[in-house]
Amino acid sequence: MMPSARPIGLFDSGVGGLTVMKEVVRQLPHENLIYLGDTAHLPYGEKSPEAILRYTLENTDFLIEQGIKLLIIACHTASSHALDALQQKLSIPVIGVIESGLECLLKAPQKKRIAVLGTASTIGSGVYQTSIQARLPDCEIFAVACPLFVPLIEEGLHSHQATNLIAQHYLGALKNKQIDAALLACTHYPLIRSSIQQTLGEDVTLIEPAEACAKKAFHWLKESGSLNPVQKQPHYQFYATDDPIKFRRLTTLFFGSEIPDIRCKKN
Ligand code: DGL
Repeated sequence: MMPSARPIGLFDSGVGGLTVMKEVVRQLPHENLIYLGDTAHLPYGEKSPEAILRYTLENTDFLIEQGIKLLIIACHTASSHALDALQQKLSIPVIGVIESGLECLLKAPQKKRIAVLGTASTIGSGVYQTSIQARLPDCEIFAVACPLFVPLIEEGLHSHQATNLIAQHYLGALKNKQIDAALLACTHYPLIRSSIQQTLGEDVTLIEPAEACAKKAFHWLKESGSLNPVQKQPHYQFYATDDPIKFRRLTTLFFGSEIPDIRCKKN
């Protein structure tokens, strides 16, 4: 296989990273892609940094064995804990969602008071807070862990009253803080964008890093001459580390279309 025809690898703890893959498909329509959802260890958001790093290394080993030319960590929790380690370890480029989120944030019209919403583990890592403060030293950051959002979305309650109530529970106190922008630092949160917007107020700019992440991949491939020159229908492969039944059920919600063929990667 020509080196530039090698696939791009993406992984997430489960289905959430499909929101990132969807953008990659849109912006890089000729690239072959391999997606791995580590459903056996889901959710990462409640796990320790050591466990997340271990799972991440296992996922990466598998994708490297498949001959990928570029790795996208399509998970905020894994990016928070393992991006540096993977960038040091691997000889292929590694793109995480954090840098992309920061780039979008820097383009926001107002950014004096910034909310960061993510899993308990992402917020606990402090990675977003430190990186934002380094670039915008005068801003005030309100970091909020929203652990119930992921299960609510995965239960199909993304436009349910229950989600609005939980959004109010986590974010209601931010309403009076004159927040300018809120970074959706979790793959699932774009699916409850309207609930978050309603709770924080219409003036708050909501930032989703998936689009910028795909753009970053495009630029890297273009600049390094690694875009797939084959202009025919690309090949997409999907793997899960556990029985893919639940994964399959959620693909339409996260990816926009059904993914019938999901293979089980044995651990
Ligand atoms: N994919 C994770 C993230 O973006 C959310 C789901 C989980 O906790 O594993 O942080």
